[in-house]
Amino acid sequence: MATTPTTTGRDALPHAIRHRFPLLERQVYLNSCSQGVLSDAVRQAYADYLRDWDDKGAPWEYWMERTESARSSFAGLVGADNDEVAVTASVSAGVNAIASGLRLDDGRDRIVVSDFEFPTVGQIWHAQEDRGFTIRHVPQGDAPVVPLEAFDAAIDEQTALVAITQVCYRNGACIDVEGVVKLAHERGALVLLDSYQAIGTMPIDVKALDVDLLVAGALKYLLSSAGLGFLYCKRDLVERLRPTATGWFADENVFAMDIQDYSPAHDARRFQAGTPPIPSIYAGIAGMGLMQEIGIAETRAHVLQLNETLFAGVDELGGTVVTPRDAASHGALVAIRSTDEHALVNALAGDGLLTSSRDGNLRVSAHCYNTHEDIEQLLAGLARHRALLA
Ligand SMILES: Cc1ncc(COP(=O)(O)O)c(C=O)c1O
Repeated sequence: MATTPTTTGRDALPHAIRHRFPLLERQVYLNSCSQGVLSDAVRQAYADYLRDWDDKGAPWEYWMERTESARSSFAGLVGADNDEVAVTASVSAGVNAIASGLRLDDGRDRIVVSDFEFPTVGQIWHAQEDRGFTIRHVPQGDAPVVPLEAFDAAIDEQTALVAITQVCYRNGACIDVEGVVKLAHERGALVLLDSYQAIGTMPIDVKALDVDLLVAGALKYLLSSAGLGFLYCKRDLVERLRPTATGWFADENVFAMDIQDYSPAHDARRFQAGTPPIPSIYAGIAGMGLMQEIGIAETRAHVLQLNETLFAGVDELGGTVVTPRDAASHGALVAIRSTDEHALVNALAGDGLLTSSRDGNLRVSAHCYNTHEDIEQLLAGLARHRALLA
């Protein structure tokens, strides 16, 4: 690791890397579920983008190399092959490309959407109602996680695709991905996994999970930038989906400049659209590289320890952790019930503690750079604002 690992003990990981993230000198940052902290590497990547543009004039070939490098970094992160990955500008762009490529003509007109989905996913699938699809929601009910039985009841032989989220952006709970994949595949349906709240916080292997499609973005735990997303599509599935949300960078030969027909690429590049988001790609390569250097399995182990400390502290304060506590059932994000979550986020921000909120809960999301002292400081803040805990 290109860092200065001087400290041993439970915070050896963050102490080795914190100097790469200047913001951490002035803030306790527990909001990586919204976006990661800017690192020296990503700042430098933006400077490199401007330098290359200035030095090279029109560096298209180099930009294409950078795009391939980002594709390959992401493929490496999820255990995919490069030709199974599309480089997009957002998760939404990837989901739109998939949705536009689904056809009604194979008799399957139903999309099953878990109640854990980020709004963009629900909205994109509902937009397909105009094309004749019907959307069936899988309710969370009173459980912290959408139960497998609810998927069992919702997925049928008419289902084209099941959209699930690996880690819920509201409460940090993990869906039983393997369980849903098994149910969906038994009934001939595809599975689209949104891993945005998981990637960078836990190892992901698309082949082991056996998902058909996976989307994620770079801004949060991949320490990168806004404006960059990725879509994995299982190789055998690529040519069964023919996107109508498309563009010249999805064409079989991008620089053929042919306006006479539509011939999408034979690999997952067919899910791309226009000019790739080059500045964000520079940042993405740097952020993903840094995250690989730091270690995703190491980050997972560290964050689980921080969350244990957080659970115990909230219990001591008499607060309510909404997130399921066992390690297999939660991501990095922890949700804590509040009487007024916006007031609590503001009060904590006044104390130099950066958090966020959703759905009546405070969201605390630690990452590789957070220490136990950060959690102790947050707990001290929660004690000061105890009246805002429910
Ligand atoms: C789980 C999840 N999916 C999707 C999104 C939205 O991604 P994008 O803005 O890249 O479309 C977010 C953003 O917070 C998210 O948390």
